[in-house]
Amino acid sequence: MATTVPTDFTNQVLYTDEVAEFSPEVIEEMKSHLKKYPPERKRSALIPLLFIVQRERGYIDAPGINFVAKFLDLTVTDVWETATFYSMFHFRPIGKYHIQICKTLSCKIMGEPEITNHICKKLGIKPGETTPDGKFTLSMVECLGSCGTAPVMQIGFDYYENLTPEKVDQILDSLE
Ligand code: FES
Repeated sequence: MATTVPTDFTNQVLYTDEVAEFSPEVIEEMKSHLKKYPPERKRSALIPLLFIVQRERGYIDAPGINFVAKFLDLTVTDVWETATFYSMFHFRPIGKYHIQICKTLSCKIMGEPEITNHICKKLGIKPGETTPDGKFTLSMVECLGSCGTAPVMQIGFDYYENLTPEKVDQILDSLE
């Protein structure tokens, strides 16, 4: 029976016996990652595989976790504990653009609260929420590793640095 357990990051961890299925092409792509590591170290392919699951299923879900656990001979807990550690993985559908604002010290000192308030007001959402049109999801994350150009946010795989409210407006307005 499926049960839900709240977490402090992206809402819920769903446990199920269902195992995700992927196309032969995707399985081959996963196997190509295994070839990069010695057989006894195939766990090293965990993060690349999680990225593939997220791409294929839209987000990391319990059946996807179960698949990766079987594929790498790991426990489901092994996979969940890695997946939930990283802010680049999400566990429910998110918007087309995932805005991740750094909330750590340098960014906090250099104006993160003003940036966050500005984005919340502009988009009408709070951190953890998605705009009704499904365009933007807003998350607060720990240090993005670009402290020298604080305040910083990441949208998708792109970094935006030395942010000001005006710069944020330009960035968000340019996204289709
Ligand atoms: S504190 Fe924001 S990037 Fe490091």
